[in-house]
Amino acid sequence: MAQEDVFKKIVAHCKEYGFVFPSSDIYDGLAAVYDYGQNGVELKNNIKQYWWQSMVLLHDNIVGIDSAIFMHPTIWKASGHVDAFNDPLIDNRDSKKRYRADVLIEDEIAKYDDKIEKEVAKAAKRFKEDFDEAKYRATSPKVLELQEKRDALHARYSAAMNAMDLEELRQIILDEEIVCPISGTRNWTEVRQFNLMFSTEMGSTADGAMKVYLRPETAQGIFVNYLNVQKTGRMKVPFGIAQIGKAFRNEIVARQFIFRMREFEQMEMQFFVRPGTEMEWFSKWKETRMKWHQALGFGADHYRFHDHEKLAHYANAATDVEFLMPFGFKEVEGIHSRTNFDLSQHEKYSGKSIKYFDPETNESYTPFVIETSIGVDRMFLSVMSAAYTEEQLENGETRVVLKLPAALAPVKLAVLPLVKKDGLPEKAREIVNDLKFHFNTIYDEKDSIGKRYRRQDAVGTPYCVTVDHDTLNDNCVTLRNRDTMQQERVAISELNSIIADRVSITSLLKKLQ
Ligand code: GAP
Repeated sequence: MAQEDVFKKIVAHCKEYGFVFPSSDIYDGLAAVYDYGQNGVELKNNIKQYWWQSMVLLHDNIVGIDSAIFMHPTIWKASGHVDAFNDPLIDNRDSKKRYRADVLIEDEIAKYDDKIEKEVAKAAKRFKEDFDEAKYRATSPKVLELQEKRDALHARYSAAMNAMDLEELRQIILDEEIVCPISGTRNWTEVRQFNLMFSTEMGSTADGAMKVYLRPETAQGIFVNYLNVQKTGRMKVPFGIAQIGKAFRNEIVARQFIFRMREFEQMEMQFFVRPGTEMEWFSKWKETRMKWHQALGFGADHYRFHDHEKLAHYANAATDVEFLMPFGFKEVEGIHSRTNFDLSQHEKYSGKSIKYFDPETNESYTPFVIETSIGVDRMFLSVMSAAYTEEQLENGETRVVLKLPAALAPVKLAVLPLVKKDGLPEKAREIVNDLKFHFNTIYDEKDSIGKRYRRQDAVGTPYCVTVDHDTLNDNCVTLRNRDTMQQERVAISELNSIIADRVSITSLLKKLQ
């Protein structure tokens, strides 16, 4: 199946099974804003819990906070967001559609990559077992020509972005003969900068309202609380502050479902270190974060690092953790060495000293910061993409199953009475009432057992138990495993010990040690 079709199926599945709905659905939605449904919110909460506990529980030098979305507007001046949190935009005069100039060019680069991959795939098919891919890539005139064009475009684009040369970005679009996907024309305007922050007003207009911003990242809430936490928590450098919360960006190219949203959630951790040690910590956090991702068990081939060529003015190293989505490798998390830029700026703009006195070295300094920043929604999309599976069964039927890591699954156990009579529902409810205190357990009696199994497969429930007539005598149930579909007879009294460990977040956390 084409990857595009897989992606469409995942989006439809998310809606059909109560994971993600378009926001304001009965009013035809609001672009790039989404709501999480009854299963989505459970999965999302489990992702957040996995992240939070891996930071705050497993590190005795990391604590959490929850700062407000509204902050003093000067914070965004100090952080550089008022002046520099911009996207380069270009309009097509015929379709009146607006695009990000950088995205148009990146899409063009991706087309070269696609063409190269198609050439390689064609050759692999032609030469079968004799195919030497590395040699083909290094010698095929067609591949070499495409690669050369791609690299030249990439180099020109990187240079233009580094210099934020808007005229050059436009010239690249013209030279590459990039057309508007709607009108098909090349009738482009100039490229302009567009600030991504949403603003609103605080206070009554009679008193003179103040323009405030909806935070575009949660990180600044951590920076401005750095000293409060350091002092009240008696924290010693190196230490970290973690936070999960909403962020808002007026994204112009909002597409790919929950990949790029206008209202989204971030899980950010700022790690404060002694100046000069930041590269060592940057490497450590790269390794720690990759381990966190890979513990989910989707396979190491689903991840890669992508080091930034264009560094933000305050950063001295930056990399993305990319995940193989149905539309290619895409950024899920950013790991940045942010120097002491943010703390120094807040010191300057607030006029308050935020220096740290290091008792070990007897010096005062402004700590450097390593940031790990991951989008909850992108993480959610990556988990859904990797888990969504269509399986051909022996009887010719297809089953759709979400192979979610058990610890992240919205429901851990479904208890199903074989029939709705003879005391089986009562027995099943007894089991639910006992186990619901340990993990998310639900009761389902509607439809045939086969249909109920499929329903649970589709939402990723790792275990189902069936209560039958024998249960009333032997106090045993049939336990079915979602992935293998194998069934075993187990005592009701054993269920908690069999299941609880396998579905707990702790089971994931233990892999990180
Ligand atoms: N404090 C650093 C920061 O915000 P970023 O690379 O702009 O860095 C970090 O964002 C993460 O937030 C991204 O890796 C992504 O997962 C998520 N993110 C950013 N913009 C997003 C959007 N419009 N929709 C969904 N997630 C987004």
